[in-house]
Amino acid sequence: MAAPTPPRTDDWWRDAVIYQVYPRSFADGDGDGTGDLAGVRARLPYLAELGVDAVWFTPWYLSPLVDGGYDVADYRTIDPAFGTLAEAEKLIAEARELGIRTIVDIVPNHVSDQHPWFRAALAAGPGSPERELFHFRPGRGANGELPPNDWPSQFAGSTWTRVPDGEWYLHLFTPEQPDLNWAHPAVRQEHEDVLRFWFERGVAGVRIDSAALLVKDPALPDFVAGVDREPFVDQDEIHDIYRSWRAVADAYGGVFVGEVWLPDAERFARYLRPDELHTAFNFNFLTCPWEAGRLRRSIDDTLAEHAPVGAPATWVLCNHDVTRTVTRYGRADTAFDFATKRFGTPTDLDLGTRRARAAALLSLALPGSVYLYQGEELGLPEADVPLDRIEDPMHFRSGGTDPGRDGCRVPLPWEAEAPSYGFGAQAEPWLPQPADWARYAVDRQSGDPDSMLALYREALRLRRAEPGFGDGPMAWLPSEDGVLAFRRSHDLVCVVNLSAAPAALPPHERLLLASGPLHADGTLPRDTAVWLRG
Ligand code: GLC
Repeated sequence: MAAPTPPRTDDWWRDAVIYQVYPRSFADGDGDGTGDLAGVRARLPYLAELGVDAVWFTPWYLSPLVDGGYDVADYRTIDPAFGTLAEAEKLIAEARELGIRTIVDIVPNHVSDQHPWFRAALAAGPGSPERELFHFRPGRGANGELPPNDWPSQFAGSTWTRVPDGEWYLHLFTPEQPDLNWAHPAVRQEHEDVLRFWFERGVAGVRIDSAALLVKDPALPDFVAGVDREPFVDQDEIHDIYRSWRAVADAYGGVFVGEVWLPDAERFARYLRPDELHTAFNFNFLTCPWEAGRLRRSIDDTLAEHAPVGAPATWVLCNHDVTRTVTRYGRADTAFDFATKRFGTPTDLDLGTRRARAAALLSLALPGSVYLYQGEELGLPEADVPLDRIEDPMHFRSGGTDPGRDGCRVPLPWEAEAPSYGFGAQAEPWLPQPADWARYAVDRQSGDPDSMLALYREALRLRRAEPGFGDGPMAWLPSEDGVLAFRRSHDLVCVVNLSAAPAALPPHERLLLASGPLHADGTLPRDTAVWLRG
Protein backbone atom coordinates (compact mmCIF):
# COMPACT_ATOMS: atom_id res chain seq x y z
CA MET A 1 0.00 0.00 0.00
CA ALA A 2 1.15 3.55 -0.72
CA ALA A 3 2.69 5.41 2.23
CA PRO A 4 0.29 7.86 3.88
CA THR A 5 0.71 11.30 2.41
CA PRO A 6 1.35 14.11 4.84
CA PRO A 7 -1.66 16.38 5.34
CA ARG A 8 -1.73 19.28 2.95
CA THR A 9 -1.99 22.89 3.94
CA ASP A 10 -5.19 24.70 4.89
CA ASP A 11 -6.01 25.21 1.25
CA TRP A 12 -6.22 21.47 0.62
CA TRP A 13 -9.75 21.87 -0.74
CA ARG A 14 -8.70 24.10 -3.63
CA ASP A 15 -7.34 21.16 -5.59
CA ALA A 16 -8.46 18.03 -3.73
CA VAL A 17 -9.76 14.83 -5.25
CA ILE A 18 -12.83 14.00 -3.20
CA TYR A 19 -14.36 10.53 -3.30
CA GLN A 20 -18.08 10.25 -2.68
CA VAL A 21 -19.11 7.28 -0.55
CA TYR A 22 -22.73 6.21 -0.58
CA PRO A 23 -22.47 4.20 2.66
CA ARG A 24 -25.37 1.88 1.94
CA SER A 25 -23.63 0.56 -1.16
CA PHE A 26 -19.89 0.86 -0.51
CA ALA A 27 -19.02 -2.18 1.63
CA ASP A 28 -21.02 -4.28 4.07
CA GLY A 29 -18.98 -5.10 7.18
CA ASP A 30 -21.64 -6.95 9.19
CA GLY A 31 -23.06 -9.04 6.37
CA ASP A 32 -26.66 -7.90 6.54
CA GLY A 33 -26.85 -6.79 2.90
CA THR A 34 -26.51 -3.06 3.67
CA GLY A 35 -23.22 -1.21 3.52
CA ASP A 36 -21.97 0.27 6.79
CA LEU A 37 -19.17 2.11 8.55
CA ALA A 38 -17.39 -1.14 9.43
CA GLY A 39 -17.27 -1.83 5.70
CA VAL A 40 -15.81 1.59 4.97
CA ARG A 41 -13.21 1.23 7.74
CA ALA A 42 -12.09 -2.10 6.31
CA ARG A 43 -11.72 -0.56 2.86
CA LEU A 44 -9.89 2.63 3.85
CA PRO A 45 -6.59 1.22 2.54
CA TYR A 46 -8.26 0.91 -0.86
CA LEU A 47 -9.11 4.61 -0.81
CA ALA A 48 -5.61 5.51 0.33
CA GLU A 49 -4.11 3.45 -2.47
CA LEU A 50 -6.45 5.06 -4.97
CA GLY A 51 -4.96 8.36 -3.85
CA VAL A 52 -7.96 10.47 -2.84
CA ASP A 53 -7.62 13.46 -0.52
CA ALA A 54 -11.03 13.35 1.12
CA VAL A 55 -14.20 11.33 1.35
CA TRP A 56 -17.71 12.80 1.27
CA PHE A 57 -20.25 10.55 2.93
CA THR A 58 -23.86 10.90 1.83
CA PRO A 59 -26.06 11.03 4.96
CA TRP A 60 -25.28 8.37 7.55
CA TYR A 61 -27.64 9.69 10.23
CA LEU A 62 -30.70 8.09 11.79
CA SER A 63 -33.26 7.92 8.99
CA PRO A 64 -36.28 5.93 7.82
CA LEU A 65 -34.47 5.91 4.44
CA VAL A 66 -37.48 7.06 2.46
CA ASP A 67 -35.10 9.14 0.32
CA GLY A 68 -31.87 7.19 0.80
CA GLY A 69 -31.00 9.00 4.05
CA TYR A 70 -31.85 12.51 2.81
CA ASP A 71 -34.70 12.27 5.29
CA VAL A 72 -32.83 12.81 8.54
CA ALA A 73 -34.48 11.98 11.86
CA ASP A 74 -31.51 12.86 14.08
CA TYR A 75 -28.27 14.51 13.02
CA ARG A 76 -26.35 13.44 16.10
CA THR A 77 -27.02 9.71 15.74
CA ILE A 78 -25.64 7.33 13.14
CA ASP A 79 -28.34 5.09 11.73
CA PRO A 80 -28.01 1.68 13.41
CA ALA A 81 -27.94 0.07 9.95
CA PHE A 82 -24.61 1.88 9.42
CA GLY A 83 -23.08 1.72 12.91
CA THR A 84 -22.59 4.00 15.87
CA LEU A 85 -21.30 7.49 16.57
CA ALA A 86 -18.23 5.96 18.22
CA GLU A 87 -17.51 4.09 14.98
CA ALA A 88 -17.94 7.25 12.94
CA GLU A 89 -15.42 8.98 15.19
CA LYS A 90 -12.98 6.10 14.72
CA LEU A 91 -13.54 6.15 10.98
CA ILE A 92 -12.84 9.90 10.78
CA ALA A 93 -9.63 9.45 12.79
CA GLU A 94 -8.44 6.37 10.89
CA ALA A 95 -9.05 8.04 7.54
CA ARG A 96 -7.11 11.10 8.72
CA GLU A 97 -4.14 8.88 9.61
CA LEU A 98 -4.12 7.71 6.01
CA GLY A 99 -4.16 11.32 4.80
CA ILE A 100 -7.90 11.28 3.96
CA ARG A 101 -10.21 14.01 5.23
CA THR A 102 -13.91 13.53 5.93
CA ILE A 103 -16.81 15.56 4.57
CA VAL A 104 -20.30 14.97 5.98
CA ASP A 105 -23.59 15.77 4.32
CA ILE A 106 -26.05 18.19 5.94
CA VAL A 107 -29.61 18.45 4.65
CA PRO A 108 -30.87 21.82 5.91
CA ASN A 109 -33.90 22.26 3.67
CA HIS A 110 -35.94 19.52 5.31
CA VAL A 111 -36.01 16.80 7.94
CA SER A 112 -37.66 13.40 8.10
CA ASP A 113 -41.29 13.30 9.16
CA GLN A 114 -39.93 11.11 11.99
CA HIS A 115 -37.74 13.94 13.30
CA PRO A 116 -38.84 14.87 16.86
CA TRP A 117 -39.57 18.45 15.73
CA PHE A 118 -42.05 17.34 13.11
CA ARG A 119 -43.71 14.80 15.37
CA ALA A 120 -44.13 17.51 17.99
CA ALA A 121 -45.53 19.88 15.37
CA LEU A 122 -48.12 17.35 14.28
CA ALA A 123 -49.12 16.64 17.87
CA ALA A 124 -49.27 20.30 18.93
CA GLY A 125 -51.79 21.32 16.31
CA PRO A 126 -52.58 24.52 14.38
CA GLY A 127 -51.30 27.81 15.73
CA SER A 128 -48.71 26.15 18.01
CA PRO A 129 -45.10 27.33 18.24
CA GLU A 130 -44.03 23.81 17.21
CA ARG A 131 -45.69 24.28 13.82
CA GLU A 132 -43.76 27.51 13.24
CA LEU A 133 -40.59 25.48 12.64
CA PHE A 134 -42.18 24.24 9.41
CA HIS A 135 -44.47 25.72 6.77
CA PHE A 136 -47.97 24.81 7.95
CA ARG A 137 -50.86 26.66 6.28
CA PRO A 138 -54.61 26.38 5.94
CA GLY A 139 -55.73 25.18 2.52
CA ARG A 140 -57.56 27.12 -0.16
CA GLY A 141 -61.09 26.44 -1.34
CA ALA A 142 -64.34 26.64 0.62
CA ASN A 143 -63.24 23.96 3.08
CA GLY A 144 -59.49 24.30 2.82
CA GLU A 145 -59.48 21.25 0.59
CA LEU A 146 -57.02 22.76 -1.92
CA PRO A 147 -53.27 23.12 -1.32
CA PRO A 148 -52.10 26.60 -0.24
CA ASN A 149 -50.26 27.20 -3.52
CA ASP A 150 -49.33 25.60 -6.83
CA TRP A 151 -45.67 24.78 -6.25
CA PRO A 152 -44.59 21.57 -7.98
CA SER A 153 -42.38 19.12 -6.10
CA GLN A 154 -38.78 18.51 -7.15
CA PHE A 155 -39.90 14.87 -7.34
CA ALA A 156 -43.14 15.45 -9.33
CA GLY A 157 -46.57 15.91 -7.75
CA SER A 158 -47.64 18.53 -5.22
CA THR A 159 -45.45 20.06 -2.54
CA TRP A 160 -48.25 20.04 0.02
CA THR A 161 -49.71 17.33 2.22
CA ARG A 162 -52.78 17.75 4.41
CA VAL A 163 -52.77 16.52 8.00
CA PRO A 164 -55.87 15.21 9.83
CA ASP A 165 -56.61 18.55 11.56
CA GLY A 166 -56.98 20.17 8.12
CA GLU A 167 -53.71 22.13 7.82
CA TRP A 168 -51.24 21.51 5.04
CA TYR A 169 -47.45 21.39 5.26
CA LEU A 170 -44.86 22.17 2.60
CA HIS A 171 -42.37 19.61 1.29
CA LEU A 172 -40.33 20.40 -1.81
CA PHE A 173 -39.42 16.71 -2.01
CA THR A 174 -41.50 13.79 -0.64
CA PRO A 175 -44.23 14.14 2.02
CA GLU A 176 -41.82 12.34 4.37
CA GLN A 177 -39.42 15.32 4.03
CA PRO A 178 -41.18 18.38 5.52
CA ASP A 179 -39.41 21.68 4.76
CA LEU A 180 -38.04 23.67 7.65
CA ASN A 181 -38.93 27.32 8.13
CA TRP A 182 -35.59 29.11 7.82
CA ALA A 183 -37.10 32.40 8.98
CA HIS A 184 -37.26 30.83 12.47
CA PRO A 185 -34.23 31.50 14.69
CA ALA A 186 -34.38 28.02 16.26
CA VAL A 187 -33.85 26.44 12.85
CA ARG A 188 -30.71 28.50 12.32
CA GLN A 189 -29.47 27.86 15.83
CA GLU A 190 -29.96 24.11 15.55
CA HIS A 191 -28.07 23.83 12.27
CA GLU A 192 -25.14 25.85 13.53
CA ASP A 193 -25.00 23.50 16.53
CA VAL A 194 -25.08 20.50 14.21
CA LEU A 195 -22.17 21.96 12.22
CA ARG A 196 -20.20 22.41 15.43
CA PHE A 197 -21.09 18.89 16.53
CA TRP A 198 -19.47 17.39 13.42
CA PHE A 199 -16.53 19.80 13.20
CA GLU A 200 -15.75 18.90 16.80
CA ARG A 201 -15.61 15.27 15.73
CA GLY A 202 -12.86 16.05 13.27
CA VAL A 203 -14.68 16.42 10.00
CA ALA A 204 -12.94 18.72 7.55
CA GLY A 205 -15.94 19.76 5.55
CA VAL A 206 -19.66 19.76 5.01
CA ARG A 207 -21.62 19.15 1.83
CA ILE A 208 -24.82 21.18 1.86
CA ASP A 209 -27.81 19.44 0.34
CA SER A 210 -30.23 21.42 -1.84
CA ALA A 211 -28.31 24.50 -0.78
CA ALA A 212 -30.27 27.06 -2.83
CA LEU A 213 -33.74 26.00 -1.63
CA LEU A 214 -33.79 26.85 2.09
CA VAL A 215 -35.46 30.25 2.01
CA LYS A 216 -38.99 30.67 0.66
CA ASP A 217 -40.75 33.85 -0.34
CA PRO A 218 -42.77 34.44 2.88
CA ALA A 219 -45.95 35.09 0.88
CA LEU A 220 -45.66 31.57 -0.60
CA PRO A 221 -47.05 32.96 -3.87
CA ASP A 222 -48.18 30.99 -6.90
CA PHE A 223 -45.86 31.43 -9.84
CA VAL A 224 -45.78 30.82 -13.56
CA ALA A 225 -43.02 28.37 -14.46
CA GLY A 226 -40.57 29.82 -16.94
CA VAL A 227 -41.87 33.37 -16.38
CA ASP A 228 -41.57 34.17 -12.67
CA ARG A 229 -38.53 33.35 -10.59
CA GLU A 230 -39.32 30.32 -8.48
CA PRO A 231 -40.27 31.60 -5.01
CA PHE A 232 -38.45 28.72 -3.31
CA VAL A 233 -35.13 28.87 -5.16
CA ASP A 234 -32.19 31.21 -4.58
CA GLN A 235 -33.95 33.87 -2.49
CA ASP A 236 -31.60 36.71 -1.56
CA GLU A 237 -31.96 36.14 2.19
CA ILE A 238 -30.22 32.77 1.89
CA HIS A 239 -26.79 34.41 1.81
CA ASP A 240 -27.15 35.64 5.33
CA ILE A 241 -27.51 32.02 6.48
CA TYR A 242 -24.33 30.98 4.73
CA ARG A 243 -22.43 33.95 6.13
CA SER A 244 -23.25 32.72 9.63
CA TRP A 245 -22.30 29.18 8.66
CA ARG A 246 -18.99 30.42 7.31
CA ALA A 247 -18.18 31.97 10.66
CA VAL A 248 -18.83 28.61 12.32
CA ALA A 249 -16.68 26.76 9.78
CA ASP A 250 -13.84 29.26 10.05
CA ALA A 251 -13.56 28.61 13.77
CA TYR A 252 -12.65 24.99 12.93
CA GLY A 253 -10.90 25.44 9.58
CA GLY A 254 -13.83 23.58 7.99
CA VAL A 255 -14.95 23.95 4.39
CA PHE A 256 -18.26 23.80 2.54
CA VAL A 257 -19.35 22.42 -0.77
CA GLY A 258 -22.83 23.45 -1.81
CA GLU A 259 -25.27 21.53 -3.93
CA VAL A 260 -26.29 24.59 -5.90
CA TRP A 261 -28.24 23.82 -9.10
CA LEU A 262 -28.67 27.25 -10.71
CA PRO A 263 -28.55 28.05 -14.42
CA ASP A 264 -27.57 31.68 -13.82
CA ALA A 265 -23.77 31.88 -13.50
CA GLU A 266 -23.76 35.22 -11.73
CA ARG A 267 -26.28 34.11 -9.12
CA PHE A 268 -24.40 30.82 -8.67
CA ALA A 269 -21.17 32.71 -7.97
CA ARG A 270 -22.83 34.69 -5.18
CA TYR A 271 -22.75 31.54 -3.05
CA LEU A 272 -18.98 31.45 -3.44
CA ARG A 273 -18.18 34.94 -2.18
CA PRO A 274 -15.26 34.90 0.27
CA ASP A 275 -17.51 35.00 3.34
CA GLU A 276 -19.90 32.28 2.14
CA LEU A 277 -19.29 28.78 0.74
CA HIS A 278 -15.81 27.67 -0.26
CA THR A 279 -16.96 25.60 -3.23
CA ALA A 280 -20.05 24.32 -5.04
CA PHE A 281 -20.67 21.40 -7.35
CA ASN A 282 -20.26 22.11 -11.03
CA PHE A 283 -23.51 20.79 -12.47
CA ASN A 284 -22.99 22.67 -15.69
CA PHE A 285 -20.01 20.39 -16.41
CA LEU A 286 -21.81 17.28 -15.11
CA THR A 287 -24.79 17.74 -17.42
CA CYS A 288 -22.73 18.77 -20.46
CA PRO A 289 -22.82 16.48 -23.52
CA TRP A 290 -19.66 14.85 -24.85
CA GLU A 291 -19.02 17.52 -27.48
CA ALA A 292 -15.83 19.54 -27.74
CA GLY A 293 -17.50 22.91 -28.26
CA ARG A 294 -19.98 22.48 -25.43
CA LEU A 295 -17.34 21.19 -23.02
CA ARG A 296 -14.99 24.02 -23.88
CA ARG A 297 -17.76 26.54 -23.26
CA SER A 298 -18.65 24.86 -19.98
CA ILE A 299 -15.01 25.00 -18.86
CA ASP A 300 -14.64 28.65 -19.91
CA ASP A 301 -17.91 29.66 -18.24
CA THR A 302 -16.97 27.81 -15.08
CA LEU A 303 -13.60 29.51 -14.80
CA ALA A 304 -15.06 32.90 -15.68
CA GLU A 305 -17.80 32.68 -13.06
CA HIS A 306 -15.47 31.51 -10.30
CA ALA A 307 -12.65 33.99 -10.96
CA PRO A 308 -14.29 37.18 -9.62
CA VAL A 309 -15.06 35.55 -6.25
CA GLY A 310 -11.69 33.78 -6.01
CA ALA A 311 -13.25 30.34 -5.51
CA PRO A 312 -11.79 27.22 -7.09
CA ALA A 313 -13.92 25.33 -9.60
CA THR A 314 -15.06 21.76 -8.99
CA TRP A 315 -15.26 19.15 -11.74
CA VAL A 316 -17.94 16.51 -11.38
CA LEU A 317 -18.96 13.79 -13.82
CA CYS A 318 -21.30 11.75 -11.67
CA ASN A 319 -23.01 11.37 -8.29
CA HIS A 320 -25.71 9.34 -6.54
CA ASP A 321 -28.50 11.25 -8.33
CA VAL A 322 -27.50 10.94 -11.98
CA THR A 323 -26.92 8.31 -14.67
CA ARG A 324 -23.51 6.70 -14.42
CA THR A 325 -20.92 8.23 -16.72
CA VAL A 326 -20.07 5.25 -18.96
CA THR A 327 -23.77 4.64 -19.66
CA ARG A 328 -24.53 8.29 -20.37
CA TYR A 329 -21.53 8.79 -22.67
CA GLY A 330 -22.47 5.68 -24.67
CA ARG A 331 -25.90 7.06 -25.59
CA ALA A 332 -27.01 9.03 -28.63
CA ASP A 333 -27.77 11.95 -26.28
CA THR A 334 -24.79 12.27 -23.94
CA ALA A 335 -26.18 15.16 -21.86
CA PHE A 336 -27.72 14.52 -18.47
CA ASP A 337 -31.22 15.81 -17.78
CA PHE A 338 -33.57 14.64 -15.01
CA ALA A 339 -36.53 15.43 -17.24
CA THR A 340 -35.58 12.97 -19.98
CA LYS A 341 -34.59 9.90 -17.93
CA ARG A 342 -36.43 6.86 -19.30
CA PHE A 343 -36.21 3.08 -19.04
CA GLY A 344 -34.36 1.21 -21.75
CA THR A 345 -32.43 4.08 -23.39
CA PRO A 346 -29.88 2.23 -25.58
CA THR A 347 -26.19 2.68 -24.85
CA ASP A 348 -22.88 1.45 -26.23
CA LEU A 349 -20.82 0.67 -23.15
CA ASP A 350 -17.52 0.27 -24.98
CA LEU A 351 -17.91 3.72 -26.47
CA GLY A 352 -19.12 5.15 -23.14
CA THR A 353 -16.17 3.61 -21.34
CA ARG A 354 -13.65 5.04 -23.80
CA ARG A 355 -15.19 8.46 -23.36
CA ALA A 356 -15.38 8.15 -19.58
CA ARG A 357 -11.66 7.30 -19.51
CA ALA A 358 -10.91 10.38 -21.58
CA ALA A 359 -13.25 12.49 -19.43
CA ALA A 360 -11.40 11.32 -16.31
CA LEU A 361 -8.11 12.69 -17.67
CA LEU A 362 -9.84 15.87 -18.80
CA SER A 363 -11.45 16.63 -15.44
CA LEU A 364 -8.38 15.67 -13.42
CA ALA A 365 -6.26 18.07 -15.50
CA LEU A 366 -8.52 21.10 -15.06
CA PRO A 367 -7.85 23.77 -12.42
CA GLY A 368 -9.68 23.15 -9.14
CA SER A 369 -10.94 20.12 -7.25
CA VAL A 370 -12.52 16.93 -8.55
CA TYR A 371 -15.36 14.79 -7.22
CA LEU A 372 -15.28 11.07 -7.91
CA TYR A 373 -18.40 9.02 -7.20
CA GLN A 374 -17.82 5.51 -5.86
CA GLY A 375 -17.65 3.01 -8.71
CA GLU A 376 -16.63 5.61 -11.28
CA GLU A 377 -13.06 4.44 -10.79
CA LEU A 378 -14.29 0.94 -11.70
CA GLY A 379 -16.13 2.13 -14.80
CA LEU A 380 -19.42 0.79 -13.45
CA PRO A 381 -22.36 1.24 -15.79
CA GLU A 382 -25.85 2.20 -14.67
CA ALA A 383 -27.54 -1.03 -13.52
CA ASP A 384 -31.02 -2.07 -14.61
CA VAL A 385 -32.72 -2.55 -11.28
CA PRO A 386 -35.74 -4.91 -11.60
CA LEU A 387 -39.02 -3.04 -11.20
CA ASP A 388 -39.97 -4.90 -8.03
CA ARG A 389 -36.71 -3.92 -6.37
CA ILE A 390 -36.75 -0.19 -7.07
CA GLU A 391 -36.70 1.91 -3.90
CA ASP A 392 -36.21 5.46 -5.12
CA PRO A 393 -39.19 7.77 -4.52
CA MET A 394 -38.30 9.66 -7.69
CA HIS A 395 -39.44 6.61 -9.65
CA PHE A 396 -42.73 6.22 -7.78
CA ARG A 397 -43.59 9.92 -7.81
CA SER A 398 -43.00 10.12 -11.58
CA GLY A 399 -45.86 7.69 -12.09
CA GLY A 400 -43.32 5.04 -13.05
CA THR A 401 -41.85 6.75 -16.14
CA ASP A 402 -38.56 7.79 -14.50
CA PRO A 403 -36.42 4.75 -13.61
CA GLY A 404 -35.19 6.66 -10.57
CA ARG A 405 -31.69 6.77 -9.16
CA ASP A 406 -31.18 3.22 -7.89
CA GLY A 407 -29.27 2.23 -11.02
CA CYS A 408 -26.26 4.29 -9.91
CA ARG A 409 -26.55 3.15 -6.26
CA VAL A 410 -26.01 -0.58 -6.67
CA PRO A 411 -23.49 -2.09 -4.19
CA LEU A 412 -19.87 -2.13 -5.37
CA PRO A 413 -18.16 -5.29 -6.66
CA TRP A 414 -14.93 -5.97 -4.75
CA GLU A 415 -14.13 -9.63 -5.47
CA ALA A 416 -15.09 -11.31 -8.74
CA GLU A 417 -15.66 -14.77 -7.29
CA ALA A 418 -17.20 -14.00 -3.88
CA PRO A 419 -20.91 -13.88 -3.00
CA SER A 420 -22.28 -10.39 -3.74
CA TYR A 421 -18.90 -9.80 -5.42
CA GLY A 422 -17.37 -9.34 -1.98
CA PHE A 423 -19.67 -6.46 -1.03
CA GLY A 424 -20.60 -8.38 2.13
CA ALA A 425 -21.07 -11.86 3.52
CA GLN A 426 -24.70 -11.96 2.44
CA ALA A 427 -25.33 -13.18 -1.10
CA GLU A 428 -28.17 -10.73 -1.72
CA PRO A 429 -27.45 -7.04 -1.04
CA TRP A 430 -30.20 -4.45 -0.60
CA LEU A 431 -30.18 -3.70 -4.33
CA PRO A 432 -29.42 -6.61 -6.69
CA GLN A 433 -26.11 -6.52 -8.58
CA PRO A 434 -26.12 -7.38 -12.29
CA ALA A 435 -25.01 -10.90 -13.22
CA ASP A 436 -22.11 -9.64 -15.36
CA TRP A 437 -20.34 -7.46 -12.81
CA ALA A 438 -17.47 -9.84 -11.96
CA ARG A 439 -15.41 -8.11 -14.63
CA TYR A 440 -15.73 -4.78 -12.79
CA ALA A 441 -14.59 -6.19 -9.45
CA VAL A 442 -11.70 -4.42 -7.73
CA ASP A 443 -9.60 -7.60 -7.54
CA ARG A 444 -9.97 -8.23 -11.29
CA GLN A 445 -9.07 -4.66 -12.19
CA SER A 446 -6.18 -4.43 -9.74
CA GLY A 447 -4.13 -6.88 -11.76
CA ASP A 448 -4.98 -5.35 -15.12
CA PRO A 449 -2.87 -2.39 -16.26
CA ASP A 450 -5.52 -1.46 -18.86
CA SER A 451 -8.40 -1.30 -16.37
CA MET A 452 -10.31 1.82 -15.39
CA LEU A 453 -9.02 1.37 -11.85
CA ALA A 454 -5.41 1.31 -13.04
CA LEU A 455 -6.05 4.49 -15.06
CA TYR A 456 -7.52 6.32 -12.05
CA ARG A 457 -4.74 5.17 -9.72
CA GLU A 458 -2.07 6.36 -12.11
CA ALA A 459 -3.87 9.63 -12.89
CA LEU A 460 -4.32 10.44 -9.21
CA ARG A 461 -0.71 9.55 -8.48
CA LEU A 462 0.55 11.83 -11.26
CA ARG A 463 -1.86 14.62 -10.35
CA ARG A 464 -0.52 14.58 -6.80
CA ALA A 465 3.10 14.42 -7.91
CA GLU A 466 2.84 17.25 -10.45
CA PRO A 467 2.42 20.64 -8.78
CA GLY A 468 1.23 22.06 -12.12
CA PHE A 469 -2.09 20.25 -11.79
CA GLY A 470 -4.84 21.26 -9.36
CA ASP A 471 -5.48 24.91 -8.60
CA GLY A 472 -3.87 27.51 -10.87
CA PRO A 473 -4.01 28.90 -14.39
CA MET A 474 -4.71 27.07 -17.63
CA ALA A 475 -4.42 28.19 -21.24
CA TRP A 476 -6.02 26.74 -24.37
CA LEU A 477 -3.64 25.65 -27.10
CA PRO A 478 -4.47 25.93 -30.79
CA SER A 479 -6.16 22.70 -31.88
CA GLU A 480 -8.14 21.13 -34.68
CA ASP A 481 -11.93 21.16 -34.59
CA GLY A 482 -13.31 18.78 -32.02
CA VAL A 483 -10.05 18.65 -30.06
CA LEU A 484 -9.53 20.16 -26.61
CA ALA A 485 -5.91 21.01 -25.86
CA PHE A 486 -4.69 23.08 -22.93
CA ARG A 487 -1.60 23.76 -20.94
CA ARG A 488 -1.22 23.72 -17.16
CA SER A 489 1.92 25.25 -15.65
CA HIS A 490 4.76 25.59 -18.15
CA ASP A 491 5.18 21.97 -19.12
CA LEU A 492 1.94 20.00 -18.59
CA VAL A 493 -0.45 19.59 -21.50
CA CYS A 494 -3.76 17.75 -21.79
CA VAL A 495 -5.25 16.85 -25.17
CA VAL A 496 -8.66 15.25 -25.67
CA ASN A 497 -9.89 14.18 -29.08
CA LEU A 498 -13.67 14.34 -29.45
CA SER A 499 -13.58 14.52 -33.24
CA ALA A 500 -14.08 11.67 -35.68
CA ALA A 501 -10.56 11.94 -37.10
CA PRO A 502 -7.22 11.09 -35.47
CA ALA A 503 -5.59 14.20 -33.96
CA ALA A 504 -1.94 15.18 -34.15
CA LEU A 505 -0.35 15.77 -30.75
CA PRO A 506 1.52 19.00 -30.08
CA PRO A 507 5.30 18.67 -29.79
CA HIS A 508 6.17 17.12 -26.44
CA GLU A 509 9.02 15.63 -24.52
CA ARG A 510 7.15 12.71 -22.98
CA LEU A 511 3.77 11.01 -22.83
CA LEU A 512 2.78 10.91 -19.16
CA LEU A 513 -0.52 9.06 -19.43
CA ALA A 514 -3.04 8.05 -22.09
CA SER A 515 -6.66 7.00 -21.63
CA GLY A 516 -6.24 4.44 -24.45
CA PRO A 517 -3.72 3.27 -27.05
CA LEU A 518 -2.45 5.80 -29.59
CA HIS A 519 -2.35 5.05 -33.31
CA ALA A 520 0.89 3.56 -34.68
CA ASP A 521 1.74 6.93 -36.29
CA GLY A 522 1.53 8.64 -32.89
CA THR A 523 -1.81 10.40 -33.51
CA LEU A 524 -4.55 10.49 -30.91
CA PRO A 525 -7.61 8.32 -31.68
CA ARG A 526 -11.13 9.68 -31.20
CA ASP A 527 -12.52 9.68 -27.66
CA THR A 528 -9.03 9.42 -26.23
CA ALA A 529 -7.08 11.81 -23.96
CA VAL A 530 -3.41 12.20 -23.06
CA TRP A 531 -1.30 14.05 -20.55
CA LEU A 532 1.98 15.25 -21.99
CA ARG A 533 5.10 16.86 -20.66
CA GLY A 534 6.44 19.35 -23.08
C1 GLC B 1 -30.28 16.30 -3.09
C2 GLC B 1 -29.70 14.92 -2.95
C3 GLC B 1 -30.72 13.93 -3.37
C4 GLC B 1 -31.93 14.08 -2.49
C5 GLC B 1 -32.45 15.51 -2.48
C6 GLC B 1 -33.42 15.74 -1.36
O1 GLC B 1 -30.54 16.63 -4.41
O2 GLC B 1 -28.50 14.82 -3.66
O3 GLC B 1 -30.23 12.62 -3.33
O4 GLC B 1 -32.94 13.21 -2.91
O5 GLC B 1 -31.42 16.44 -2.31
O6 GLC B 1 -32.76 15.78 -0.14
